[in-house]
Amino acid sequence: MLNVADLRSKFPILQNKIVLSSCSQSAISLDVLNAMEEYKESLLLHGMAWDLWMEKVENSKKEFAKLIHCDPKEVAVLSSVSDSISSILHALDLKGKEVCLTEMDFPCIGHAILAQQIKKEFNVTYIPHHNYTINSDIYEQFVHKNTALTCIPHVSYYNGFKQDLKKIAEIVHENGSLLFVDAYQSAGSIDINVKEMGIDFLAAGMQKYLLGVPGISFLYINHELAETLEPATTGWFGQAKPFDFNLFDLEYAESAQRFNTGTPPVMNAYVANAALLMINSIGMPAIEAYLNELSSFAIEQAKELELPIMSPSSPAMKGPNTAFYVENAHIIEEKMKQEGFIVSARQDVIRMAPHLYNTKDDLKEAIHLFKKLR
Ligand SMILES: Cc1ncc(COP(=O)(O)O)c(C=O)c1O
Repeated sequence: MLNVADLRSKFPILQNKIVLSSCSQSAISLDVLNAMEEYKESLLLHGMAWDLWMEKVENSKKEFAKLIHCDPKEVAVLSSVSDSISSILHALDLKGKEVCLTEMDFPCIGHAILAQQIKKEFNVTYIPHHNYTINSDIYEQFVHKNTALTCIPHVSYYNGFKQDLKKIAEIVHENGSLLFVDAYQSAGSIDINVKEMGIDFLAAGMQKYLLGVPGISFLYINHELAETLEPATTGWFGQAKPFDFNLFDLEYAESAQRFNTGTPPVMNAYVANAALLMINSIGMPAIEAYLNELSSFAIEQAKELELPIMSPSSPAMKGPNTAFYVENAHIIEEKMKQEGFIVSARQDVIRMAPHLYNTKDDLKEAIHLFKKLR
């Protein structure tokens, strides 16, 4: 059970705003604000503090590894999910093969795939959604022996629809394909175990349910698989011995760390470390259970007030985000902001995405205000 009142006191913005935007930018904790200060101090006090900075990057990576239940060496530190998928595509032999993605992926996955399609000479297949959900069985129809890579979002950025990763991984592997999971909308809200779920690649940034800021993203690659890959997007931090300053040879670092590129985003790693420490110390099972409760409550409220939602109406099929249909979503987002409610507009929906610091009252008030303004 979460101590929500205690958690709320750690997020200063909640004193005057209701923040329901974890699918875009979550509220920032005192721990994170202190971590920003700590980085500033390192510059003011030491001028240059490489050992300390690298330790923070390493620690943030360890915390992410703990979150998704893998070994830290199976995690690379990059700047964005876009970088992560681009880098994976560069590293794979795709000539004459097929890459699948879903119609519910975040656009950056499509962009990265389309940008490499012609040069690398592979075919692209979009797995369709039906009413903004995808039945896992449909993967049997689309993934086949020539599919080198299958890209899916764990949870949809648009409506919070959640996929069964374990089941999809089984179908993908039966067909000899690899599974790339974009977990940006699930990490920090759903307990992920990459080993139990059988995931090959998983990427997630810090800005959403991981309670951090943009500019840092973690890329998990299963160890055995990572050892077979030679990244073409690389840099000195992806090398076994970066501080040998060897200009003439390539010697990739162990495991997924070979997917590191240049100097890591140090300041963001300070933030990531603090935010992940908070999440890991509470534990994902308790966070996920609480967010499921809030998610069910939002669906009940929508039904009671007869508000159309674009999210699945079964809480078991979704993450915390509930997407309320409205034509002029961006205008409503702005109007709600003026009233002190931070929600997030996308296309034709207002997304209300609570986190561990929200209450049912937050949702109730926001949903009633939304009904009044739409
Ligand atoms: C599911 C998902 N993937 C990827 C992104 C974009 O990630 P990045 O900006 O790190 O490339 C977002 C951002 O909203 C997202 O929701």
